Amino acid sequence: MADHSIKGKVVLIAGGAKNLGGLIARDLARQGAKAVAIHYNSASSKAAADETVAAIEAAGTQAAAFQGDLTTAGAVEKLFADTVAAVGKPDIAINTVGKVLKKPFVEITEAEYDEMSAVNSKSAFFFLKEAGKHVNDHGKIVTLVTSLLGAFTPFYAAYEGTKAPVEHFTRAASKEFGARGISVNAIGPGPMDTPFFYPAEGADAVAYHKSAAALSSFSRTGLTDIEDVVPFIRHLVSDGWWITGQTILINGGYTTK
Ligand SMILES: NC(=O)c1ccc[n+]([C@@H]2O[C@H](COP(=O)([O-])OP(=O)(O)OC[C@H]3O[C@@H](n4cnc5c(N)ncnc54)[C@H](OP(=O)(O)O)[C@@H]3O)[C@@H](O)[C@H]2O)c1
Repeated sequence: MADHSIKGKVVLIAGGAKNLGGLIARDLARQGAKAVAIHYNSASSKAAADETVAAIEAAGTQAAAFQGDLTTAGAVEKLFADTVAAVGKPDIAINTVGKVLKKPFVEITEAEYDEMSAVNSKSAFFFLKEAGKHVNDHGKIVTLVTSLLGAFTPFYAAYEGTKAPVEHFTRAASKEFGARGISVNAIGPGPMDTPFFYPAEGADAVAYHKSAAALSSFSRTGLTDIEDVVPFIRHLVSDGWWITGQTILINGGYTTK
């Protein structure tokens, strides 16, 4: 019988310095993970990475932090190699990397499309590939997508369209890695109260999103609170192992599919 508890496990979180990824890192450390390795991209995220490392260590868990732009296969390979060298082979690999663009279709440039594709699709593809090579048997893999995959809405063509392939990567990976007892899922939160959300939206859109979910009146911010997403991820990377190959929208009743 495989051990699905978080206790004693090695965790890697891409984008694990802050916001949703930072809270997942702290939570899994508190659940008794043996080690949590986090990744960050921008130099401006270094301070948050340092704080998250300190919080992981304060929970009695080994920590490591690695910087990298994960839009090349080589960078993702290096992240996994560095993680294995520092804390051992991961049992749990979580990818929270993403970038949003809200813009009329006819104004999206080729450079913007290429960047969205690289950050949202390509990095996720190679994260899943490396996770498939390095995650231990009976491991768990989660990638972040968006609840907009269940929406029928203008202006997010590049964001939704470059997150959408991850759903199919997840399905294929779950079938292939399932032979080793590994589960693979995609999580699509609703609009979350993080600095990721606000710059792309005007005041009217923020007000709309704060009231658009069935349960909006009862969340802390009206949006999807990261504290309400973390328990599902905790479940998927532990006792929820029987769920695999799925895209799960966690949004208080914002969109559905
Ligand atoms: N906030 C929302 O409304 C919302 C809603 C649904 C889904 N999501 C998804 O949830 C995930 C987490 O979002 P969040 O709200 O917690 O915001 P966040 O902290 O800004 O997460 C995005 C992450 O992607 C990383 N990243 C961006 N470009 C990268 C690159 N080229 N290489 C490697 N990493 C890169 C960022 O690192 P740096 O900041 O260090 O560059 C950051 O850690 C994202 O995948 C997002 O698409 C967010």
